[in-house]
Amino acid sequence: SAAPVVLPSVLACDFARMADEVATVEAAGAPALHVDIMDGHFVPNLSIGVPVVEALRRVTDLPLDVHLMLDNPADYVKPFREAGADIITVHAEVLEDPRPLLDEIRSLGALAGLSLNPPMPVEKLEPWLGHCDLILVMSVMPGFGGQKFDPVALDKLAWLRDHPDCDALREVDGGVNADTIAAAAEAGAELLVAGTAVFGAEDRSARLEQLNALARS
Ligand code: DX5
Ligand code: ZN
Repeated sequence: SAAPVVLPSVLACDFARMADEVATVEAAGAPALHVDIMDGHFVPNLSIGVPVVEALRRVTDLPLDVHLMLDNPADYVKPFREAGADIITVHAEVLEDPRPLLDEIRSLGALAGLSLNPPMPVEKLEPWLGHCDLILVMSVMPGFGGQKFDPVALDKLAWLRDHPDCDALREVDGGVNADTIAAAAEAGAELLVAGTAVFGAEDRSARLEQLNALARS
């Protein structure tokens, strides 16, 4: 698989200056942006909605990796695709059978992602692997940036990496920083989401370079 890459999570940027914030990480060579969508039900927080994704689409050419932390993702995959999402990830916790929704995401022309929170065993995803372009392993309970990386994600990443039927990209999200990124990459994460570790740094180029180097070490 390709060298692991860091995806900045815009949740941690200054929302009053979003276009400038995105420009700093785009100039620094970020390959895509991670965008957290929260509903106040599946997670105890609100964040970004469809109009903000539309606005992001107008200020960057980077692929938008849209993470739907919603109780009812089926109602929103089309609006977010129309707003410019390139990857749409839904949570296994709220879908009895995620296959139809993953197939719908693909039919809309986006990559289909499936995510699981720390309490869910990764083996639960086994029947659905063939319908996923990406698996997003959460390394925190979602809802907030700046939490501590839960190493339960490492065994899940390694299980996916070693599974003969898993061709999906492996992504990890939550608490990824200079102290945790090497272990996550070593376990098989290819897309490493980082919010506060990137946007908390004054110099985004230097920070992304440091994180990417640690991921490849
Ligand atoms: C957590 C979100 C993450 C968040 C990560 O609910 O899904 O994408 O932005 O933030 P950090 O990197 O600060 O843990
Ligand atoms: Zn996320």
